[in-house]
Amino acid sequence: MNLISTRDFTTKDVNRFIDLAEDARQGHWNFSPHLKKLKRKILATLFYEPSTRTRLSFESAMLRLKGKVISVENAQTSSSWLKGESLEDTLKIVSSYADVIVLRDSIDLRYMEEAVKYSKVPVINAGNGSGEHPTQALQDMYTIWREFSYDFNDKHYVFVGDLRYGRTVHSLVQLFSLYNVRMTFVSQPDFSMPGEVLNFISQREIGWVETKSLHEALGNRPDVVYLTRMQTERTVKRADTYVFGEKEMEMVDERAIIMHPLPRGEELPLEIDKYENAAYFRQAENGLWMRMGILSYLLS
Ligand code: NCD
Repeated sequence: MNLISTRDFTTKDVNRFIDLAEDARQGHWNFSPHLKKLKRKILATLFYEPSTRTRLSFESAMLRLKGKVISVENAQTSSSWLKGESLEDTLKIVSSYADVIVLRDSIDLRYMEEAVKYSKVPVINAGNGSGEHPTQALQDMYTIWREFSYDFNDKHYVFVGDLRYGRTVHSLVQLFSLYNVRMTFVSQPDFSMPGEVLNFISQREIGWVETKSLHEALGNRPDVVYLTRMQTERTVKRADTYVFGEKEMEMVDERAIIMHPLPRGEELPLEIDKYENAAYFRQAENGLWMRMGILSYLLS
């Protein structure tokens, strides 16, 4: 089984990964049969784009599961890609060295889906260009599940910023379309949610609206405000950044949470960190537990 897009997910999949992440967090692993199975397994990380959290949390997850890690962290400058090797060949070869591959690349989803067919072991998409980031979406779902007493339904989710080029929100809203939720997308026209994602979630008859006004969206009592940074490495287009400062914090309910996949830009000033509603560091930590859950599932 590969993990490339959240389009293929069911609520059963989401529940299973959340249960495994929670087991990992609570340290149930010592009692679980997973540890034994993972003991001699090897994870290969192959990153053609920069990363801090995703790569390190995968590596830490594997080591905590008593597995081993081999890693190419700057594959665009240190791998045989420089000599013209194709991704297909790379995956074919790396899959004979490792039991699972975590791949980050700027390629589109269809190409990734084709290329991973050359791998003999499961491949996990750790972010493909402006496409998807399914494991971040799972860690985000796990965070919301924990923050709101284990339920995603009947909530208002507001997504803000660069919704076009930011991949985490694509994977996340596709997962949300499995539930009974309301979503508001706040962006400037050139940075709105891609039509492909909107079409996908609309097929599931889920309620969403688009607006340019952050304050209008905040006035509609969001439960979750999910901020994203401008993906300046992906486009030369620029627009005013929506900043979520203390004034905006005053506009949301006391129980609402603020999320961000990080790294942050000017949209999320440091002054917000002191609020209990600021969930983004808890969200980042949850990436570790979720990735332990994902690896244990794919490898056992
Ligand atoms: C995100 C990514 O790489 O898409 N970072 C992450 O993995 N936590 C978000 C971003 O880079 O803006």
